[in-house]
Amino acid sequence: MTDNPQRLKNQVALVTGASSGIGAAVALALAAAGAAVAVNYIGHPEGADAIVRAIELAGGRAFAVRADVSSEDAVHAMFAEVIERYGTVHILVANSGIQQDARFLDMTLAQWQRVLDVNLTGQFLCAQAAAREFVRRGMQPEVSRAAGKIICMSSVHEVIPWAGHVNYAASKGGVMLLMKSLAQELAPHKIRVNSIGPGAIATPINLTARDTPEEVADLLRLIPYGRVGEPEDIGKVAAWLASDEADYITGTTIFADGGMLLYPGFESGG
Ligand code: BGC
Repeated sequence: MTDNPQRLKNQVALVTGASSGIGAAVALALAAAGAAVAVNYIGHPEGADAIVRAIELAGGRAFAVRADVSSEDAVHAMFAEVIERYGTVHILVANSGIQQDARFLDMTLAQWQRVLDVNLTGQFLCAQAAAREFVRRGMQPEVSRAAGKIICMSSVHEVIPWAGHVNYAASKGGVMLLMKSLAQELAPHKIRVNSIGPGAIATPINLTARDTPEEVADLLRLIPYGRVGEPEDIGKVAAWLASDEADYITGTTIFADGGMLLYPGFESGG
């Protein structure tokens, strides 16, 4: 995977939800592979600025761009800004995601709706804006064998049901068929569309819920490989999946979960 450290040279990437956690690690990994990176955030400008500084210190190019991915106007404005700054975009990592956990009997419509808006509609809006730019620009064979690459951040919960989190599981199940249908529809344009399906990764979305030794032990029982994932585990997969090394891969979810999916009996109110 590290044969060509600059395998994203001359490419522009937009990573949504990149001010912390998996998105931040993805932004750093794409920049390390040579891409100029637009670091999207919504609530944590200081996190996004820190990622931009880290990329610049390492000799890369990045800037921070605020947008709520569930708003069509905001997504369009974000893409316009990226294109104005860097000329075009070659890689979208639609990473923004939230959890609003509640037992089904108590879940409010607002909790259901917000998670669907960010996790599913947000991916639809960003993928559509990216694909329109890829099609408008067309191929740049000197830059990449594909006209563009879309990577959706999914989850093991695109296939594993998750009691206590039906809004989240439904959103990720939706992301799976959004991704696969887009891969089919966009293949004639030479656009690759894939997902990454992380398992349990040590990120802000997780840590507060997993801060007692008992909870960590419960979690580890579900992970055959015996460790919680690090955001960098996902960053590396994204950099590879976005590169020409993965040029024949489209319509697939790459699970990076330490083997979590191997357990048919996953159950957690978590
Ligand atoms: C969720 C985490 C959870 C993991 C495995 C992820 O998609 O965001 O909170 O630990 O799936 O259940």
